[in-house]
Amino acid sequence: MSNKLDKLFTEYKSDKLTLKNRVVMAPMTRFFSPDGVPGQNVAEYYRRRVEGGTSLIITEGTTVNDPVASPHPNVPHFHGEAALAGWKDVVDAVHEAGGKIMPQIWHVGMARRAKEAPNPELPNASPSGILHNEKKIAEPLTEAEVGALVKAYADAAAAAQKIGFDGVEVHGAHGYLIDQFFWEQMNRRDDQYGGDMVLRTNFAAEIVKAIRAAVGEEYPIIFRFSQWKQQDYEAKLAQNPEELEAFLKPLADAGVDIFHCSTRRYWEPEFEGSTLNLAGWVKKITGLPTITVGSVGLVNDMMSAFKGEDSGTRSLDDLGERLDADEFDLVAVGRALIQDANWPTKVKEGRMDELQDYSAKALSELV
Ligand SMILES: Cc1cc2nc3c(=O)[nH]c(=O)nc-3n(C[C@H](O)[C@H](O)[C@H](O)COP(=O)(O)O)c2cc1C
Repeated sequence: MSNKLDKLFTEYKSDKLTLKNRVVMAPMTRFFSPDGVPGQNVAEYYRRRVEGGTSLIITEGTTVNDPVASPHPNVPHFHGEAALAGWKDVVDAVHEAGGKIMPQIWHVGMARRAKEAPNPELPNASPSGILHNEKKIAEPLTEAEVGALVKAYADAAAAAQKIGFDGVEVHGAHGYLIDQFFWEQMNRRDDQYGGDMVLRTNFAAEIVKAIRAAVGEEYPIIFRFSQWKQQDYEAKLAQNPEELEAFLKPLADAGVDIFHCSTRRYWEPEFEGSTLNLAGWVKKITGLPTITVGSVGLVNDMMSAFKGEDSGTRSLDDLGERLDADEFDLVAVGRALIQDANWPTKVKEGRMDELQDYSAKALSELV
């Protein structure tokens, strides 16, 4: 093993969470849960990643109880008896293999293409009914509807705790519902959920508070957010560290334990004048642990699966250096773990030449 990467394979310990190493599986939608119910294949898929050395699984996005939360009938629900029974089997499989697991709870909001989604006759949910290109396609959510959605997230978190998940991750990234409230292009509200950037965090902060009230003080809550949006890779919520601080404070105060800072390339500096990436800045500003992510360990480009550009191949040495410098605490790995379930073990043992490269295969073939 390259000792530059030693820290990646050391224990992570905080008040609420202990992990045997710092490799986290990034949440990735796989569309393999027909009618929203994860089956045994899903349990085996996550079990294999734990057997391959991943310490914490963050599941694919799984939807809260709202008829327009889901983008597709094959995306798993996080409500209803059948789906939750399926998730219980997933949790058991991961625990048997010695790993930990948290569901990523999700509502797609305006990003839903109704024709492809369950309940196509219903309009999308969103802060203002406006797309980022100014097109109006729905009515804004009423305050009562916003309140019901806050409760739906809290119910999902309570269900996660009941089934035995080790915490929850709230999906506040990538231009989906929560991020649509953050983003001024889509949030034109003038009630308590809209206005300046701090007011635009109110929906998310209420969700985190409601989850905290439902699960108690000891249960880990991860909050994932991103500057970039799938609708616009160049979008930024915060232009500088001061704005980032204003954005993060209400979320940290609401009860977030760990921020999962989604970037497309972990080595890119977030702001001018420092090499710190987004996870680095968030840790520095909040003092809370952070997860970094973005093109870790790719041996070949599979970005077509994620409609992006060539991410190239990179040495992992600087990842180790950044971990050693405490820039962030945990490292989420996405596409590399889809390609090779044994990525952590092979990297730990320095068997880089044995990493599987399935880039010629279709994503649906990689299980
Ligand atoms: C097939 C696929 C599905 C994804 N689905 C989700 C998702 O459900 N939730 C989410 O927050 N991010 C999702 N992402 C983003 C990943 O979590 C991750 O941030 C991104 O792939 C960058 O990490 P990587 O370069 O290691 O793959 C997805 C990415 C891919 C490739």
